Amino acid sequence: MAMAYSCSSATSFLFLSIILFLSLVSFTFATTSTDTISAQHSLTGNQTITSGGGTFVLGFFTPQGSGGNYYYVGIWYGKISVLTPAWVANRVTPVTDPTTSELKISDDGNLVLLHQFKSIIWSTNVTTISSSNSTVAVILDNGNLQLRDGSNSSLVFWQSFDHPTETYLPGAKFGFNKITKRSQQLTSWKNKVDPSPGIFTFEMGPNGLLQYLILWNMSRIYWASGLWDGYEFSSVPVGYMYHMQLVNDTDEMYITYMLDIANHSMYREVLDYDTGQIQGLVWMENSKSWMLIWAQPTSKCSVYGVCGPFGSCTDFTSPFCYCVKGFRIKSQTDWDLGDRSQGCERKTGLQCSGLNNSVDSEKDGFFEMTNVRLPDSPNTLSTAGSREGCELSCLRNCSCNAYSYNDSGCFVWHRGLLNLQEQYNQSDAGTLYLRLAASELQSSESNKRMATHISVGVIVPAVVVCLFIIGGLVWKRERKRAIQNSKVVQNSLVSFMYDELRIATKNFSEKLGAGGFGSVFKGSLPGSIDIAVKKLEGLYQGEKQFRAEVSTLGAIQHVNLIRLIGFCSQGTKKLLAYEFMPSGSLADHLFRSNLNVLDWKTRYQIAIGTARGLAYLHEQCRDNIIHCDIKPENILLDDALVPKVADFGLAKLVGRNFSKVLTTIRGSRGYIAPEWISGMPITTKVDVYSYGMMLFEIISGKRNLMYTGESSFEFFPLVATNKLVIGDVKSLLDQRLEGKANSEEFEIACKLACWCIQDNESSRPTMSQIVQALEGNLDVGIPPVPRSLQVLNESWAESINSSSSHQN
Ligand SMILES: *[C@@H]1O[C@H](CO)[C@@H](O)[C@H](O)[C@H]1NC(C)=O
Ligand SMILES: *[C@@H]1O[C@H](CO)[C@@H](O)[C@H](O)[C@H]1NC(C)=O
Ligand SMILES: *[C@@H]1O[C@H](CO)[C@@H](O)[C@H](O)[C@H]1NC(C)=O
Ligand SMILES: *[C@@H]1O[C@H](CO)[C@@H](O)[C@H](O)[C@H]1NC(C)=O
Ligand SMILES: *[C@@H]1O[C@H](CO)[C@@H](O)[C@H](O)[C@H]1NC(C)=O
Ligand SMILES: *[C@@H]1O[C@H](CO)[C@@H](O)[C@H](O)[C@H]1NC(C)=O
Ligand SMILES: *[C@@H]1O[C@H](CO)[C@@H](O)[C@H](O)[C@H]1NC(C)=O
Ligand SMILES: *[C@@H]1O[C@H](CO)[C@@H](O)[C@H](O)[C@H]1NC(C)=O
Ligand SMILES: *[C@@H]1O[C@H](CO)[C@@H](O)[C@H](O)[C@H]1NC(C)=O
Ligand SMILES: *[C@@H]1O[C@H](CO)[C@@H](O)[C@H](O)[C@H]1NC(C)=O
Ligand SMILES: *[C@@H]1O[C@H](CO)[C@@H](O)[C@H](O)[C@H]1NC(C)=O
Repeated sequence: MAMAYSCSSATSFLFLSIILFLSLVSFTFATTSTDTISAQHSLTGNQTITSGGGTFVLGFFTPQGSGGNYYYVGIWYGKISVLTPAWVANRVTPVTDPTTSELKISDDGNLVLLHQFKSIIWSTNVTTISSSNSTVAVILDNGNLQLRDGSNSSLVFWQSFDHPTETYLPGAKFGFNKITKRSQQLTSWKNKVDPSPGIFTFEMGPNGLLQYLILWNMSRIYWASGLWDGYEFSSVPVGYMYHMQLVNDTDEMYITYMLDIANHSMYREVLDYDTGQIQGLVWMENSKSWMLIWAQPTSKCSVYGVCGPFGSCTDFTSPFCYCVKGFRIKSQTDWDLGDRSQGCERKTGLQCSGLNNSVDSEKDGFFEMTNVRLPDSPNTLSTAGSREGCELSCLRNCSCNAYSYNDSGCFVWHRGLLNLQEQYNQSDAGTLYLRLAASELQSSESNKRMATHISVGVIVPAVVVCLFIIGGLVWKRERKRAIQNSKVVQNSLVSFMYDELRIATKNFSEKLGAGGFGSVFKGSLPGSIDIAVKKLEGLYQGEKQFRAEVSTLGAIQHVNLIRLIGFCSQGTKKLLAYEFMPSGSLADHLFRSNLNVLDWKTRYQIAIGTARGLAYLHEQCRDNIIHCDIKPENILLDDALVPKVADFGLAKLVGRNFSKVLTTIRGSRGYIAPEWISGMPITTKVDVYSYGMMLFEIISGKRNLMYTGESSFEFFPLVATNKLVIGDVKSLLDQRLEGKANSEEFEIACKLACWCIQDNESSRPTMSQIVQALEGNLDVGIPPVPRSLQVLNESWAESINSSSSHQN
């Protein structure tokens, strides 16, 4: 077990940790309190009620570290030593003395909080209580507080799961009430000790779109989950044990989640006041702390304004916020509590007196910050025709804090600069001139003077430059009507008009499929060239995906990569046209029973072809490209069943000189490498991991994770690696093949698949080694069982034992 624990802390791997937690947690508790508040039984002072299983407690609490001046009614975890609130009633109206406060059932049946035993400072405020003299409030073992009829527990008038604060618990709803038009919302705490609503909110997207969003100040979206695809949200990876379900009935539409086999009572998701991320946390009894398992967005710096005015963000150091040059933390106390809304203030005030400063400009000056993410919503000054003119305009106005000058003109900022990030190596980086008092500038005066008019491109490193160049070529290319001679010109992308593609697809009538990003339609161009047209849909995601596809796929060609024929970018309409693949996807052939079973030879050729395509992406083309979403759905087959890797919407370009890239976790459930889930920078080895998972599915002809009934299932890679170790692989072959497979090839495939899914990325082979091995030119040794699978193995045995003992 000690081994297993150290393994987990190194990887922070979702399912692993949950399972570990299972085997590590052990509790003893004794309680005499009930779980119910009724007309006869109210709460005051240090009285509490406890849920049936003892998991949750309701009562008055004061946040840890707050000094004990303010008390809140809340729900917290009952069996752990660290006070962890999961819900707070009176977020904005704390009481100072719980002994004179009372939580009771009022005469109208509502649950109310009374101050000095008389004035109501919080209420469930329901007007539809039908049996007012007999309601009770009951705390359930999943953390839900229900106000319901005392004699009929299915008559629920109000429940805390409908009104979450900053925590989303397993089994809780998160969605939209179609009748009240109200949507659940998480709002972060203001800071570590103050539960009142902070600046970040997590909610379901508008217009009935099933998509989670996180917003700053209720207005600025800085993260979106991608659309619900019936299984999960397209850009939120879920581990194997995590299971989400959509409920869509006449009253409500919501998502709930469960952890499939683990005992999930000690797992929670929280919108963090400090980082603005939504985080998944699991209680580790060994270290008596909550362990962070995942967080979205992965990069704290993509959280809007996370460092406050005049603060800058850095993902690679801790703390991740600091003040820009010439500024200092405004309120150290708030900052230390994780509330940076006041941000930073000037160390030295500006000399600007409000008079005519144009001649007297020696007093204040500007500090040049190259390569920064510029703050939003500047004022545009159309009159300034040069950088010097722009600078002068800023100097003349005492409230001007900074300016920026680029091809589009002169931009000035008057308020606090929010959302700054230095060393921002992205294509939208710019140069900001920050106004500072002369004394703040003196130290660095000499080297600043030289550095004017440096173009952004010089500083931005190779990664972005490449993206830029490839992107630029594509965007600026003249519209070529190259399709006329019934020939699609090789090596050149066609820029289509929307109407051309609309006509080609007969008004988008023949739908081939749909995914998280949009739908795919069949079409044909003049000269009977069949195409597949992808129409990108969905808030916020489409543009990025579109650019990723065009800039990666547009620039490469390989027989095992799908060919992009052209694109259309007309306003918000974004479409991509590919060569049409008549035989569908590998997933269709493997998992759908109505198609002919692929024979072993074909499967092996598909495995080799896919590996060749990926090896080309990873190693041979001009930039290294990580596909980031390898799965059977994304391997398309032409009429000769030659595989083509498709769907480059998540692909990442990695410059030659960089081997790692930090990127938001995307990818698909079951194919995501552990290092990516734990938020580390990724390499091409994430594709190798996904390829390994897919290879297992090619071998077995089944999904890796097969539910075989109520909370029991088989995880094929686990079965396979165990058989591999004892040298019995024959039974792993898809039964539909009736043993008809080249046994040498079969063994190579099994071993390789297991090598590909090693926890440690450096243990995984490269894609070109995989090609060589599959071609028989490289010997493949017996792989070790990945440690994450070993642990899974043990806990599986345990969970099977415990569930069978339940039945007895
Ligand atoms: C609860 O408060 C009472 C006094 O109001 C005190 O005597 C008692 O020890 C407290 N109980 C606990 C568990 O703190
Ligand atoms: C209760 O709801 C009514 C309207 O439904 C609202 O006006 C009132 O402010 C609410 N009271 C409390 C204490 O929330
Ligand atoms: C509830 O009120 C009804 C009449 O409104 C009364 O008949 C009944 O006895 C009351 N029940 C309790 C438990 O007080
Ligand atoms: C309890 O309430 C539910 C929902 O309103 C109702 O369908 C059911 O008949 C009630 N049961 C009893 C025993 O009154
Ligand atoms: C948040 O938005 C409100 C109004 O929408 C605005 O008054 C307030 O200044 C904003 N907060 C910050 C920190 O900008
Ligand atoms: C939910 O149900 C409504 C009506 O039954 C339907 O129109 C809507 O498309 C459904 N939404 C989803 C996401 O399934
Ligand atoms: C989950 O674990 C807790 C703590 O060990 C235990 O009290 C509870 O009964 C468990 N729940 C289930 C469903 O096994
Ligand atoms: C400000 O300076 C300009 C020349 O730059 C001059 O014409 C103007 O009179 C000055 N205004 C004041 C109030 O000094
Ligand atoms: C400075 O700029 C602000 C914002 O644009 C404007 O309201 C103000 O009038 C300007 N002050 C002067 C002296 O031009
Ligand atoms: C110039 O800077 C402004 C303000 O940040 C930005 O909106 C605009 O896109 C930039 N234009 C160019 C051509 O970089
Ligand atoms: C951004 O570029 C600078 C200079 O090229 C480099 O020092 C820095 O490490 C880069 N930062 C990231 C996050 O790649």
